[in-house]
Amino acid sequence: MTARTRINILLADGCPGGSAAIAGWVRTVRSGKGITFLALNDGSSLECIQVVADTGLENFTVVSRLGTGSAVRVTGMLQESPASGQRLELHATEITVIGSADQDYPLQKKRHSFEFLREIAHLRPRTNTFGAVFRTRSALAQAVHRFFAEKGFMYVHTPIITANDCEGAGELFRVTTLPLDNLPLTNGKVDFNADFFGQATGLTVSGQLEGELFALAFSDIYTFGPTFRAENSNTPRHAAEFWMIEPEMAFADLMADAALAEDFLRYLCSFALEECSNDMAFFDAHIEKGIIGRIRAVADSSFAMMDYSEAISRLEKAPVTFQYPVSWGLDLQTEHERYLTEQVVGGPVFIVNYPKAIKAFYMRQNDDARTVAAMDLLVPKVGEIIGGSQREERLDLLQQRMLETGINPEGLWWYLDSRRWGSCPHAGFGLGFERLVMYITGMENIRDVLPFPRTPRHAGF
Ligand code: 4AD
Ligand code: MG
Repeated sequence: MTARTRINILLADGCPGGSAAIAGWVRTVRSGKGITFLALNDGSSLECIQVVADTGLENFTVVSRLGTGSAVRVTGMLQESPASGQRLELHATEITVIGSADQDYPLQKKRHSFEFLREIAHLRPRTNTFGAVFRTRSALAQAVHRFFAEKGFMYVHTPIITANDCEGAGELFRVTTLPLDNLPLTNGKVDFNADFFGQATGLTVSGQLEGELFALAFSDIYTFGPTFRAENSNTPRHAAEFWMIEPEMAFADLMADAALAEDFLRYLCSFALEECSNDMAFFDAHIEKGIIGRIRAVADSSFAMMDYSEAISRLEKAPVTFQYPVSWGLDLQTEHERYLTEQVVGGPVFIVNYPKAIKAFYMRQNDDARTVAAMDLLVPKVGEIIGGSQREERLDLLQQRMLETGINPEGLWWYLDSRRWGSCPHAGFGLGFERLVMYITGMENIRDVLPFPRTPRHAGF
């Protein structure tokens, strides 16, 4: 068997007159008298290659009746294509049907709604849109590692099973081997002594706390892994299982943290434009008009920064009615975030120095004693894409915050130890990977940038 060439390589480097072997799935079949054209796609790029089959093939009748979705292998000769929009076509000398597909194959039509495609998550990767989304997602994951490798950050794998709720929001999924229909009880309470780990455990909501320990040894680190939140919010921006990138830097303050976040997002935007240009052109044409220009502008611009207090007064003066109330001390909702980034700034903006009462216990208290050195990066359409902060490195203040926020210091003795010996100012942030993919592709629902999304009441297919 001649070695198979991926279609993207063939379309880029193939020469008329050369022979080639490819394999892929049939997107369309057009049959005329004694001739059949197959559009073949193998997922390596958005483009299909046109395969020309004629009566010279011994199985021509079978080929001319192939169904959309069939898997075939083709060997043949490349020729210049007379059709517009394609440079080359493959004139088949042999076509092997590897896996046929019949009329019941659900992807017969050219365009299906995203809602319908979510119901066939096992097949949607074979469509143009999802092909482009998941190729871009893969490229961006590589870009994340490249960015941090170039900056000398160490990659650390933080645990997925954990006994602490980093964000303190009570959104932990439980992990247990206890029999749910016959829980061991002591004084009416579940006895976790009998559980696999001898204590209550769950799936991590963030790798930050462990990441901090590594930053206090290796200076600059990042994590990139799955994150789980049992947050019962059925929104287009929340998933129960998502991926997060969390860098952490020792000897760094909030401004250094914001500078890294800005560099990072701009790098990822440039990367997508350069390395995913075909898919980006598709998003611009079919998903969000003008997205290339918007991403280009972000890659080239410097981001705005606004104090939370300033943001609140801008929102209070806004000539629009919000669904949720606005006043100093309340958290920003997506509608507020979008107003700030879309209407007030017209681009990415860091909101900094939030009230301490609405932020996690580990954030560093500012001198005003009522705000913390927190930052959220807001971007048009998505709202919050990054959340981060400078961390409280002072042991007494950290202990005090834990007590105030109802976090049990006993379970976090190891975290407190990091403030006992060699504590230093440090800062980091979390970028929600799916929010990034949404931002760069223009896709509006997080379910459409996750290969197999997990959301409330939805964990299967
Ligand atoms: O703002 P969050 O909750 O921050 C943290 O978890 C910190 N420990 C990060 C750090 O400082 N190291 O989450 C960070 C980001 C959000 O800005 C958002 O992009 C994303 O994670 N995110 C979600 N993405 C999808 N679905 C969800 N349910 C998400 N919750 C947060
Ligand atoms: Mg946040």
